[in-house]
Amino acid sequence: MQNVVLIGLMGTGKSAVGRVVARLLHYEFVDTDQMVEEVTGLPIKEIFRKYGETRFRSEEALAISKIADKENMVIATGGGALIGPRNVELLKRKGYFVLLTADPEVIFERVSRKNNRPLLARGRNLEYIKQLLQDRGPCYSQCADLIIDTSRLDIADAAEKIVHMA
Ligand code: S3P
Repeated sequence: MQNVVLIGLMGTGKSAVGRVVARLLHYEFVDTDQMVEEVTGLPIKEIFRKYGETRFRSEEALAISKIADKENMVIATGGGALIGPRNVELLKRKGYFVLLTADPEVIFERVSRKNNRPLLARGRNLEYIKQLLQDRGPCYSQCADLIIDTSRLDIADAAEKIVHMA
């Protein structure tokens, strides 16, 4: 089976669902945000604050290039990872792309709980989430092999669906 690559906006459950999928498939789980944090020694929010988004995007691209050719992986990508066509190309080589979606209200509620998303700083709100969905939606859908709406699914159910369909 191909690598399972989870794509979609923040708050759709990529990391939480990805961990369970990896456990069920006996695959290794990696989260590109976590890789970037480990390499830089900084939380994502701090990378954005200190060095800006461009630096974050190059660290993200580097992380993706390190794992894209491995096998038996479940890869949770950051919500903006597909902005880079090269990232898509690399991950597609061995990846089955699962797009997780959710209603903007659900996403907003989930991400507000944590307050660790730099893109939501400076008072950005539900309207911003809707805008992001609109901007990125076509790119996500174009790449997706499977689409799962997690708005009303719990983590275990979403993971089961992926394992049965992938
Ligand atoms: C981002 C999403 C975040 C993280 C960074 C940028 C984005 O990942 O990579 O804050 O551009 O949408 P999650 O989707 O895991 O929150």
